[in-house]
Amino acid sequence: MLSKKKQKKLEHEQELIAESEYAIECENLVKIYKTDQIEVVALQGLDLQVKKGELVAIVGTSGSGKSTLLNMLGGLDKPSAGSLTVNGRNLLKFTEEDYMIYKRNTVGFVWQNNARNLVPYLTAVQNVELPMLLQGQKKRREKALELLDAVGLSNRINSRLDQMSGGEQQRVAIAISLANDPAILLADEPTGSVDTKTSDQLLGVFKDINRTRGVTVVIVTHDLRLAKQIDRVVSIRDGRTSSEIIKKSHAEIMRESSGWDTGGEEEAAEEVSEELVVLDRTGRLQIPKDYLEALEIKGGSKVKADLDLENERIYIHKAQ
Ligand SMILES: Nc1ncnc2c1ncn2[C@@H]1O[C@H](COP(=O)(O)OP(=O)(O)OP(=O)(O)O)[C@@H](O)[C@H]1O
Ligand SMILES: [Mg+2]
Repeated sequence: MLSKKKQKKLEHEQELIAESEYAIECENLVKIYKTDQIEVVALQGLDLQVKKGELVAIVGTSGSGKSTLLNMLGGLDKPSAGSLTVNGRNLLKFTEEDYMIYKRNTVGFVWQNNARNLVPYLTAVQNVELPMLLQGQKKRREKALELLDAVGLSNRINSRLDQMSGGEQQRVAIAISLANDPAILLADEPTGSVDTKTSDQLLGVFKDINRTRGVTVVIVTHDLRLAKQIDRVVSIRDGRTSSEIIKKSHAEIMRESSGWDTGGEEEAAEEVSEELVVLDRTGRLQIPKDYLEALEIKGGSKVKADLDLENERIYIHKAQ
């Protein structure tokens, strides 16, 4: 006979879990950041499904909600509405304790700026061991060496971090992110601070990990050249999945979203001339940033645009 407390815990666990072929399922996911004066709708009804063992790139312009999505997936922040299931677990029903366990056991993170994970005066192997020590993990040295080998650094285990290149440091960060054997690896602009060649090599590490360890990998990137090398690319525009780009040509990908960092490539990007935006229930809509910039209208708390209703159309002008 279970105690009432245990029974309740079991019921809560059952409520969280559902069998699923998907590692990630977002449906109509909404995230609203509230600050003193304004509300920012960072995700406005985003849909995304990622199968277990998939490697996916998320692309989109600055401010489109990529990091917000990753933070939701990683349990670093909570969605405002919608549904979010990771490995069959419903994150919207999570308690604080569930979140803590989830972050510890299910996800690994790699950031653009790895400073928050790494200690410059420790060696590569010491850096990988450190979080394991803090988690009370056993067989740390053995595991750290195995992970450094997995990221191609077995010849640099005793090098101090500040004596390693940016790409090598990023490999150490990837090794650390794998220390808890995560089911899902989330990487936010992991190649944002390295050159093209190093960036390709790092992508190779992610692909290798995805293939050999069966980890589901989500990589956020600005770099279309890199995205081109990933089989599944999902584009976010203004907090929604605007398109799924599967093995399209570079020119096609560029056409999907104007204004991205094209890595200096000169291929002409056609402007997206028709844009659909979603109105929320209270009638608010988010106007794409590039439209506002084109009209030189700045967002913020003060009114800076005029509206006219003419022939069933609403016109927005810069306020005179
Ligand atoms: N903590 C926060 N408080 C208020 N607004 C936020 C917060 N975090 C993000 N935002 C806003 O949410 C929107 C989405 O931001 P997010 O960081 O997810 O974009 P991004 O696609 O990662 O951009 P970038 O490519 O520049 O990293 C932006 O308008 C941003 O200003
Ligand atoms: Mg970001």
